[in-house]
Amino acid sequence: MRLKDKVAIITGAANGIGLAAAHRFAEEGAKVVLADYDAEAGAVQEVELNKLGYEVKFIQVDVANRASVDALIEQTISNFGQINILVNNAGITRDAMLTKMTEDDFSNVLNVNITGVFNCTQAVVPYLIKQGHGKIINTSSVSGVYGNVGQTNYAASKAAIIGMTKTWAKELGRKGINVNAVAPGFTSTAMVAKMPEAIISQMKSVVSLQRLGDPRDIANAYLFLASEESSYVHGHVLQVDGGIMM
Ligand code: CAA
Ligand code: NAI
Repeated sequence: MRLKDKVAIITGAANGIGLAAAHRFAEEGAKVVLADYDAEAGAVQEVELNKLGYEVKFIQVDVANRASVDALIEQTISNFGQINILVNNAGITRDAMLTKMTEDDFSNVLNVNITGVFNCTQAVVPYLIKQGHGKIINTSSVSGVYGNVGQTNYAASKAAIIGMTKTWAKELGRKGINVNAVAPGFTSTAMVAKMPEAIISQMKSVVSLQRLGDPRDIANAYLFLASEESSYVHGHVLQVDGGIMM
């Protein structure tokens, strides 16, 4: 068991990649908080995971709202007594060409994808510092590494994740806290299902492995970075993208 008795908060874990990660972490012995805005899916997935014998709790949160994040952390501590791992996985898209992107499209994506990651990390870090150890995993994207048509807001937010990851690695390494990022490629979840079919095919064709990622492909990378196997990996951005050439 690679995460025995560890307590992990995974944001955006009611669906998609975060949900796959919740399964992988629980299979490896972690107690998992599904931290998500989506109360309906969160409640259903909590029951499903508990049925499998895992210690999993759904806590509703809006990562963009600091009071909501503070309540998430308090509830996690009161339920599980500690926090060892934070996966900043929640994220949204509002795709539009630059000339058509509204101010709301731009600011909503930055609020969730950047401020949300800042809020959760700043709220959790005092606990990790007190313990002298911890793991933070941030979710970037190939869009943040290469840019992507129709994603001014999202690509900016996912590039910001890389900057925050490298900064926190420098600030928190000496406190015993590992900080890394995963930059997934196009992965089969609701986020990609919203894309026009022709663009999905175009994206698949520039992936060396010639397929979309499976949520478990990304979850396995989170698991590696959450486990002790990665204890000397620090400030790294792990691209899990099937060898994409965007
Ligand atoms: N590459 C090159 N050109 C592209 C393109 C692409 N990927 N996508 C669109 N274009 C071109 C079109 O061919 C079109 O060209 P012309 O003006 O010469 O005809 C022009 O850009 C405008 O495209 P649309 O007609 O599609 O414009 P629209 O306003 O109707 O829609 C859009 C724009 C909303 C951005 C739509 O194209 C779209 O949804 N694209 C997908 C964006 C995308 O890749 N999102 C990723 C979501 S998944 C995710 O984000 C996960 C992750 O981290 C990777
Ligand atoms: P998804 O849309 O399936 O799941 C995202 C989850 O985040 C949902 O459960 C949603 O309710 C939750 N969420 C959204 N806003 C929230 C908020 N304000 N507070 C709390 N929870 C919120 O998306 P997917 O594909 O699973 O994405 C997970 C992460 O991976 C995101 O950060 C995304 O940007 C990133 N990513 C996804 C890729 C893909 O191709 N699917 C590729 C690269 C990165």
